[in-house]
Amino acid sequence: MNDFIIGIDLGTTTTEAAIFRNGKVEMIPSFDGEKAIPSAVGIDESGNFIVGQKAKAQFILSPERTAIEIKRKIGTSEQIRLGKKNYSAAELSAKILEYVKRYAEEYLGQPVNRAVISVPAYFDDIQRRETAEAGRMAGFVVERIINEPTAAALSYGIGHLQEKSHILVYDLGGGTFDVTVLEMFEGVMEVLASSGDNRLGGKDFDACLIQYLKDTFKEKTGVSLDGNVFAEARLKEAAEACKIALSTEERATVQLPMLADKGNTPMGLEETITREQFEQLIWGELERTRGPIEVALSDSKIAPQDLDMILLAGGSTRIPLVSKSIHKIFGKDPSEAIHPDYSIAEGAALQAAIISGEIDNDDSIILTDVNPYTLGVSAMEGHEAVMSVIIPRNTTIPVTRHNLYMTEYFGQRRAEIVVLQGEHRISKLNHEIGRFTIRDLPVNMTEREKIDVAFSYNLDGILQVAATVVSTGKAATVTYDMTQTGPKEYEDVSGWKTSSIAADYRATIRRGERAMKKAKELGREEFAADIKELLYELKYEILHENQVKADEWEEELRELIDI
Ligand SMILES: Nc1ncnc2c1ncn2[C@@H]1O[C@H](COP(=O)(O)OP(=O)(O)OP(=O)(O)O)[C@@H](O)[C@H]1O
Ligand SMILES: [Mg+2]
Repeated sequence: MNDFIIGIDLGTTTTEAAIFRNGKVEMIPSFDGEKAIPSAVGIDESGNFIVGQKAKAQFILSPERTAIEIKRKIGTSEQIRLGKKNYSAAELSAKILEYVKRYAEEYLGQPVNRAVISVPAYFDDIQRRETAEAGRMAGFVVERIINEPTAAALSYGIGHLQEKSHILVYDLGGGTFDVTVLEMFEGVMEVLASSGDNRLGGKDFDACLIQYLKDTFKEKTGVSLDGNVFAEARLKEAAEACKIALSTEERATVQLPMLADKGNTPMGLEETITREQFEQLIWGELERTRGPIEVALSDSKIAPQDLDMILLAGGSTRIPLVSKSIHKIFGKDPSEAIHPDYSIAEGAALQAAIISGEIDNDDSIILTDVNPYTLGVSAMEGHEAVMSVIIPRNTTIPVTRHNLYMTEYFGQRRAEIVVLQGEHRISKLNHEIGRFTIRDLPVNMTEREKIDVAFSYNLDGILQVAATVVSTGKAATVTYDMTQTGPKEYEDVSGWKTSSIAADYRATIRRGERAMKKAKELGREEFAADIKELLYELKYEILHENQVKADEWEEELRELIDI
C-alpha cells in the first residue's frame, strides 16, 4: 500500500486537497462530492463540531456558534468564541484539517497521515508554525509548509520545465494577497522574490459593499444595522453573492426581506448595484496590490516588460477589474494556464509527490524558494542594539551566509547571540527567534575577539546558527525549527482606550497614527512599519496598565516620529 502524502490548500474562505497518483494530480472530493469546502467551523445544537458546508450554512442562523475566516487570526493570540468556549485559530484550523483527513481517507480508501500544507508566501514564521501545529493537531505529519504562489507556479511549471521564462504569480484569495516572481530554466524553478499583504482579499471587497448597503439602508429607513449580528451575517452572505454575480453580470440585486425592525415594522433591503458602482467601491482596496507588486519586481530585478507570463490564483481574480488593473500595470493580459481555485492544492500535491519520490528524480523539478523576511543578529551600534542582517529577505534558499563580529571589550569571556527576524533597524522591534551564549572566550586583554556567525536556512524552515570564535575555533550551534510553535504572539490591543492610563498617551498615539498614515501615503513602507510596531508595543503596555514600560515606548515613538 502506498503511503500517500496529500497536498492541502488551507484557505481563508475555502480549503482544497489533492493527491498525485498514477502519474497525475487529482483533486480529492469531500463527503459532499465537492472539490472545495468552506473553511468554516461551528458547534451544532448538540454541542458537536461541524465543518465545511454545514458550518457555513449555520453561520447565517447562528453566527455566535460559527467561525469563518479563521486563517486571518492565525499567528495572533486572539481567541475565537464558539458558543461558550474560546478557541485559538490554530485549534479551529486543526478541525478543518481533521475533516479533510477524514474525507481524503474515505476517498482513497486508506489512512492518510502525511501532508504538505500551503501558506501565503508572506506569512511570517509564527503564522507558519501555527499552521504546521494545526496540521499536527489534526493528526498529520506535516512534511512541508509550501508557499501558495510557489505551489501555483509548480502546478504550471511541471509541464513546462525546459522553457526559460519569468513568471509572476498574482494570488488574490479571500483574505490574503501574494505576489511572487519566479524564473524557470532547464528544470530549475527559482523563486526570485515574494511580497504581499496578509490582510487584503475578497473579504475586503465584501466589506466595501456591506458598508455601502448599510449606509444606503440607514439613509432610506433611518435604521442602523451596526451591531445587529443576524442582519450582518445575512448582509455578508448577500454581499458576497452580489459581488460574485457582478463578475459575470452588469448588475445584480441584493434582496433581504425583514432585515431589521423600525419600531414594530419590519424593514427590508433591496438594492441594485451595477458593476461600475462596485468597481468604484473596491478601487481603493485593489490599488493596495500595487505596493507589493513593486516590491516583488524590484527585489527580483525583473522589469514588467520582461515577464513572460502572469498566472492568476485565488477566487478574487475572477473580478473583471482585477484583470483590467493587471493589464494596466504590466501592459499584458494574465494567462489562463492554471485553475485559479485548484492550482495551489495541486502544486502542494506535486511537492508531496517530489518528497515521497512518487515523481522520480529524472523528471523532477528542482525547486528553490526565498525567505520572505530578513534574518540577522542583534549588534551594538553606539549605545543602541540594532539588527545586523545576515540573510536579507528574498534570498534564495537553501542558503548559508556569515558575518564577522567583534566582542565589545577587551577580556570579554562570553558573548550572547540574539537571533532576529524582521525588517526593522532597531533590534527590539524585530521578532526574536531565540538567543544563546558562546562561553570560554580566550582571555585577551590587547584586542577584541572575532566571532564568526553563520546562518543556514533550508526549505524545511530549519535555521541553523553557528557561532565560532575565530582564534580558537570553539563553536556553539543552535538549530531553530521555524515550523515549531514559538513564544511571541501578537495580542489584540485595540481595547487600549479602556485602560486607566490611556488618557496620558492619547495625544502621542494619535500623532503616531497620523504619521503612519502619512508615511504610507508617501510610500515609506518601512518607516510606516516601524511606527506600527511601536504603536503596538505602546498600546500593549497601556492595555496591561504598565506605565513604566509604556513611558519607554512612548519615548521611542516620539523620537522616531520626531515630536
Ligand atoms: N466569481 C467570483 N468573483 C469574485 N469573487 C469571487 C468569485 N468566486 C470567488 N470569489 C471570492 O474569492 C474568495 C475566495 O477565494 P479563494 O478560495 O481563492 O480564497 P482562499 O484560498 O480561501 O483565501 P486565501 O488564499 O486568501 O487564504 C472569496 O472572497 C470569494 O468571495
Ligand atoms: Mg488561497
